[in-house]
Amino acid sequence: MTDNNRVVVLLSGSGTTLQAILDQQNQYSYQVVGVLSNRPEAYGLERALHAGVDTQCLDHKLYSSREQFDLELMEHIDRYNPDLIVLAGYMRILSSAFVEHYQGKLINIHPSLLPKHKGLNTYQSALDAGDKEHGTSVHFVTEELDSGSVVMQAALEITPSDTAKTLEQRVKVMEHHLYPKAIDWIVSGRIDIKDDVISLDNKPLGPQGYRIAEQNIVTEH
Ligand code: GRF
Repeated sequence: MTDNNRVVVLLSGSGTTLQAILDQQNQYSYQVVGVLSNRPEAYGLERALHAGVDTQCLDHKLYSSREQFDLELMEHIDRYNPDLIVLAGYMRILSSAFVEHYQGKLINIHPSLLPKHKGLNTYQSALDAGDKEHGTSVHFVTEELDSGSVVMQAALEITPSDTAKTLEQRVKVMEHHLYPKAIDWIVSGRIDIKDDVISLDNKPLGPQGYRIAEQNIVTEH
């Protein structure tokens, strides 16, 4: 175990991503020390409780502005003394102050091969664009939506029978392997970010980060 392994997860929904992160905690070097949600009904909170992880819920509807909510959220997060803040289906736009406060310590997973298909409905966008492949990206968070440096990507081939639903299911399977690995590589110091350039074991990676194909997703370590 490294010393800089304290992870806080933010979510808004069902939390299957959180579940994967929790389930793989034993085989990696990170430790989830807190889970926060902006939605009281988020099932992810129950998953955390079930795993014995501390939870906090701050209902964003009770705050008069995004800035005020984010300031309060930052206070709660900082009490956990985290080394890494992990967005896992956290459906809120972040204020500048929040992004700045956690610069280099805040990551997200986005279901597309960034820089393609930023924003929502990426599965349908990929199909509509006639893409041959789709996938998911782990990236550091910057102020511009889905635009920070990419740490890792996993790609799959789109088949003629794929729909938005099947693509989502296939991508989620990949995400559940990719995100825990990315978190582990970051907290253990294998991944480094300097001037927006990502390095793995001191070797600079290209703009699409470390790439894993679908067939290698389960076996790669
Ligand atoms: C994931 O598919 C991720 O790509 C996106 O939000 C989704 C969260 O799903 N950022 P869940 O709530 O963890 O099931």
